[in-house]
Amino acid sequence: MCALLGCWGLRAPPPLPLLVLCLLAAARRSLADSTSPGSLFTTLPAREEMMAKYSNLSLETLNISLTEHSSAPVEKNITLEKPSNIELTCQFITSGDLSSVNVTWKKDDKLLENNSLINATGNILYTQYKFSVINSNQMGSYSCFFGEKKEHRGTFNFKVPEIHGKNKPMITYVGDSTVLTCKCQDYIPLYWTWYHSNGSVKVPVDIQMSDKFYVINGTHSNETKLKITQLAEEDKGSYWCCAVFQLGHSEMLIELVVLSYLVPLKPFLAIVAEVVLLVAIILLCEIYTQKKNNNPDDGKEFEQVEQLKSEDSSNGIENNAPRHRKNSVTSK
Ligand SMILES: *[C@@H]1O[C@H](CO)[C@@H](O)[C@H](O)[C@H]1NC(C)=O
Ligand SMILES: *[C@@H]1O[C@H](CO)[C@@H](O)[C@H](O)[C@H]1NC(C)=O
Ligand SMILES: *[C@@H]1O[C@H](CO)[C@@H](O)[C@H](O)[C@H]1NC(C)=O
Ligand SMILES: *[C@@H]1O[C@H](CO)[C@@H](O)[C@H](O)[C@H]1NC(C)=O
Ligand SMILES: *[C@@H]1O[C@H](CO)[C@@H](O)[C@H](O)[C@H]1NC(C)=O
Ligand SMILES: *[C@@H]1O[C@H](CO)[C@@H](O)[C@H](O)[C@H]1NC(C)=O
Ligand SMILES: *[C@@H]1O[C@H](CO)[C@@H](O)[C@H](O)[C@H]1NC(C)=O
Ligand SMILES: *[C@@H]1O[C@H](CO)[C@@H](O)[C@H](O)[C@H]1NC(C)=O
Ligand SMILES: *[C@@H]1O[C@H](CO)[C@@H](O)[C@H](O)[C@H]1NC(C)=O
Repeated sequence: MCALLGCWGLRAPPPLPLLVLCLLAAARRSLADSTSPGSLFTTLPAREEMMAKYSNLSLETLNISLTEHSSAPVEKNITLEKPSNIELTCQFITSGDLSSVNVTWKKDDKLLENNSLINATGNILYTQYKFSVINSNQMGSYSCFFGEKKEHRGTFNFKVPEIHGKNKPMITYVGDSTVLTCKCQDYIPLYWTWYHSNGSVKVPVDIQMSDKFYVINGTHSNETKLKITQLAEEDKGSYWCCAVFQLGHSEMLIELVVLSYLVPLKPFLAIVAEVVLLVAIILLCEIYTQKKNNNPDDGKEFEQVEQLKSEDSSNGIENNAPRHRKNSVTSK
């Protein structure tokens, strides 16, 4: 739903920093195009030219090691936030004949031709693939394949940073306010947006049009919060926060449950009724057993009181107070 440009296509104008970025990128591209015709760049393969043009970008070197004994694919997940040059290396260790091993590279399901280098040392076969990630089109999975009798695969998955937040539904009550939070560990998105599902369609949470929604620290932060005030039952449903990066976007779903006060009151009332009933039963039992025991016990109790009284009086005047207490206890 939140398609590649969806995050900022739906919202009105993209924020200024993004515009500046786009302009800068466009300017740099045209500058490089105008200075390089006829120069040594044109003799280089497209990949080299690309690398030269974006030599400014940071370089990520990644490797995967495969052996002939293990046919399980090896995967690596790589979080990429900004445009970068990438250098992928796969090594394949085999005891067999290296020249019979077929080496191919694929991006997702598309075969990548003539851009890989192959190199063998001893019984290790290396293959290297270099490219630049400039925009979301170059994101995805890049795989190296070593074909012997069996096929061995190593895959590098390039992804934009993930969003973290509560996975559990938020439980709220009618009339309350709530705050939905999304965080992005270690990365700061260009900006954040919020969406609400009105049943079938994902609609941007329109902050300007309503005093119901507030976004706290919505831009240039690794965290975004959506405050919703005066919750009504219609506000329940799915909310998405969407973090937009140069190389794509990442989103997370938060379910909001809005309960009316009667719903939580029901179990409470049930508990109260149960407690009242229990107390009543206990009281009735107490009264019943007391009545039953009262007649035979009267004589014994009286004897005990007399005994205590005599003990107390033998101890002297200081025990006046305790005697009173004992009397009052036994007379109950
Ligand atoms: C790219 O290079 C220019 C000058 O060559 C420099 O001013 C700029 O900071 C560099 N950008 C990055 C991202 O390294
Ligand atoms: C492969 O990458 C790891 C780090 O991910 C590094 O420690 C190791 O030296 C690399 N191996 C080769 C052969 O480049
Ligand atoms: C890579 O990411 C996928 C999906 O996000 C996950 O299932 C897999 O376990 C991850 N692999 C590694 C090696 O982290
Ligand atoms: C190498 O692998 C590719 C793709 O798997 C296949 O199309 C091609 O025929 C193979 N070449 C050889 C020589 O095995
Ligand atoms: C492979 O290289 C040839 C000649 O350099 C080029 O015409 C062709 O488009 C390239 N193939 C791919 C898939 O890049
Ligand atoms: C090719 O082999 C040489 C040694 O023979 C090694 O230094 C180099 O790293 C290898 N190239 C790749 C791409 O692995
Ligand atoms: C957000 O950034 C601040 C400082 O820039 C840092 O202290 C905090 O841990 C970050 N939060 C997350 C969730 O990464
Ligand atoms: C949801 O929003 C879409 C577009 O704004 C609208 O066409 C549709 O009628 C809405 N559906 C409901 C159930 O409100
Ligand atoms: C926005 O974030 C800054 C720190 O990044 C913090 O000091 C400020 O209180 C936040 N504003 C709001 C409204 O949360």
